[in-house]
Amino acid sequence: MANKFRNLNSKLFHLARSSFQRTSVRPRMSFPGRESGFTGNRKVLGALGALTGTAGLLIYALESSVDASSDCVHPAHQHWNHKGLLSALDKESVRRGYTVYKEVCSSCHSLQYMAYRNLVGVCMTEAEAKAEAEAITVRDGPNDEGEYYERPGKLSDHFPSPYANEEAARSANNGSYPPDLSYIVSARKGGEDYVFSLLTGYCEPPAGFALRDGLYFNPYFSGGAIAMGKVIDNEVVSYEDPNVPASAAQIAKDICVFLKWTSEPESDERRLLLIKVTLISAFLIGISYYIKRFKWSTLKSRKIFFIPELEAQAKREAEEAAKAAKKAKQQECNKCENQNEKQE
Ligand code: HEC
Repeated sequence: MANKFRNLNSKLFHLARSSFQRTSVRPRMSFPGRESGFTGNRKVLGALGALTGTAGLLIYALESSVDASSDCVHPAHQHWNHKGLLSALDKESVRRGYTVYKEVCSSCHSLQYMAYRNLVGVCMTEAEAKAEAEAITVRDGPNDEGEYYERPGKLSDHFPSPYANEEAARSANNGSYPPDLSYIVSARKGGEDYVFSLLTGYCEPPAGFALRDGLYFNPYFSGGAIAMGKVIDNEVVSYEDPNVPASAAQIAKDICVFLKWTSEPESDERRLLLIKVTLISAFLIGISYYIKRFKWSTLKSRKIFFIPELEAQAKREAEEAAKAAKKAKQQECNKCENQNEKQE
């Protein structure tokens, strides 16, 4: 408590000091030690800032040079609807992307971190998602007799994996492992741009490029030789909506939006939260600024005449000493007079 008051005192003292400087009635006091410490700190801070800036630039330069010397073509930048700070995912595209995943990618890639219940309210109604889940069979158990059994899927089930384990996946794909796609957009540099370019970028290898059997040329894949063949083409899936053409580009776009959603299912909520937080904090900051000005207005607009405490004390002590001396003298005089009277 005492400490708090001391702090408040020193704050008020600084405030008074600065207002003195403004009103040019300067007290006869200075803090040479403190001021030189402040300029010293500034120099150290400046040096630190310069050092951090240089380190940042160096790291950036290194990163771009490594980027420039990578062994694949950089993915082209696409204008995704969901890329803006306040843009939501295109949910119709997510729904179409689910179809593409189910009909094309799911034969090789798992999506083990997504469950059927995640689809509800995003791109499907509960009944639709239930129907999707019931179309798969899940191995469950053990039951009362200790046996495993198969049952139709439920909303709480995760998407089924095409292979029992990694070894089975590798042996079916020439030794390459098709990665789980749940977080692929977050896991690869370039995100959905990369996946889009990868899916649509298959072409003939340049002359002299030796491809092993079972590998395909894709300039966007590191090294250029990928074990996944061209899986996306015009009309590889048929969409429910007759107004959306099932072109290769459209299919690739839809699967990318779907994979973006699986990588960050909370992205829409996060953006909504950002809007709320920004609005509320703007309001609160405005109010606090007003209250601060209001509360401090008496302090900010008053003029304080400051008499240094020591000087006042010295003055008081001198006055008291003078008074005491005067009193002593008086008493002495009185004594002398009394003695004189007695002698007489
Ligand atoms: C016939 C099986 C097969 C199908 C179908 C398939 N993939 Fe693949 N995919 C693979 C294999 C195998 C790899 C591993 C490639 C490698 O490491 O060389 C792979 C790798 C990938 C990668 C990772 C590339 C990287 O940077 O490591 C992505 C992304 C991908 N596939 C997306 C898809 C999408 C999206 C679909 C559906 C449209 C799909 N795949 C369909 C077999 C398949």
